[in-house]
Amino acid sequence: MYQTKAERYETMVYKRCGASGIRLPRLSLGLWHNFGDMSVRHNCRAMLHQAFDLGITHFDLANNYGPPPGAAEEMFGQIMKHDLAPYRDELIISTKAGYLMWPGPYGEWGSRKYLLASLDQSLKRMGLDYVDIFYSHRYDPETPLEETMGALAQAVRQGKALYAGVSNYPPEAFRKAVMLLRQMDTPCLLHQYRYSMLVRDAENELLTEGERLGVGFIAFCPLAQGLLTSRYLNGIPEDSRAALPIPFLNQEHVDKAISRIRTLNEIAAGRGQTLAQMALVWLMRNSGLTSVLIGASRPEQIVENVNCLKNIDFTTEELAAIEAVLSGR
Ligand SMILES: NC(=O)c1ccc[n+]([C@@H]2O[C@H](COP(=O)([O-])OP(=O)(O)OC[C@H]3O[C@@H](n4cnc5c(N)ncnc54)[C@H](OP(=O)(O)O)[C@@H]3O)[C@@H](O)[C@H]2O)c1
Repeated sequence: MYQTKAERYETMVYKRCGASGIRLPRLSLGLWHNFGDMSVRHNCRAMLHQAFDLGITHFDLANNYGPPPGAAEEMFGQIMKHDLAPYRDELIISTKAGYLMWPGPYGEWGSRKYLLASLDQSLKRMGLDYVDIFYSHRYDPETPLEETMGALAQAVRQGKALYAGVSNYPPEAFRKAVMLLRQMDTPCLLHQYRYSMLVRDAENELLTEGERLGVGFIAFCPLAQGLLTSRYLNGIPEDSRAALPIPFLNQEHVDKAISRIRTLNEIAAGRGQTLAQMALVWLMRNSGLTSVLIGASRPEQIVENVNCLKNIDFTTEELAAIEAVLSGR
């Protein structure tokens, strides 16, 4: 039987999520990759144990994570049942609905029909009575936002979710969603959005707007799926995400970014950090950012990434050097 470490809360830092009562760990763990049917259960367990032992209390899922869709929730449910059930009240578990899950007109996007049915399915797969956060996974321009937010609020009223969140919402829809949820007495807990050194759209408006509205921000793909690590410095390793036959990350992405990655790696070394560590703490400089939502394929990566918290300050020179690389100056 797994027993977590007594000292699990000693090194992790927790930050208040917007204006809510919840504090999230500065690093959270997502199960998008490496928790599907092809993944080795022993490794999945080891990663979840390692994360929790280091104070990572937040695990992020979605109905469609796998492959196949649903498999990550099932894998998580099994590990939850065997190992983590005694710690349920120490965990923030999230899931989402928005992308394609089942055939026909009710298996994706933002209708009440889809969202509430999907949440019931997710709870079943994970063997949970409730999730802590239920997200609308993407903005649906063809469904009234009142209906999508109404479904999130209903999930909270039913006790199937404790908090509501949105993901991938453009700024105008985000503002409207926050206002609608407020009117329904279900404040929006946080916005989950892509943000890394290589993808910085969130800096334009969303980060500051969330802070102004009292909504937390959790950055997904903070390592640009592994590009901002030592993974690809010398080619594409066979066991890496870019070597998989999937569209999310491939040789082209690596080729496009590699010279910037190598220079950033040198800057990180000068700070006594790995590139992954520097890439994570660089995001944390934003006061509006609550947590970075990392992925991992092995426990050692989680250890390395959490160790970023040992050096979170940047000199003006370091920031200027990084900015020059990122903006191609
Ligand atoms: N809301 C949305 O629409 C959305 C979309 C995408 C993701 N997400 C969430 O964000 C989470 C994280 O996404 P992500 O997995 O793309 O995040 P990421 O942290 O940018 O990339 C994770 C990958 O980077 C590599 N890596 C991590 N730490 C490393 C280290 N220290 N050294 C070397 N390589 C390292 C591993 O790749 P290898 O596998 O090659 O080892 C790992 O699988 C997902 O699980 C999901 O919860 C949400």
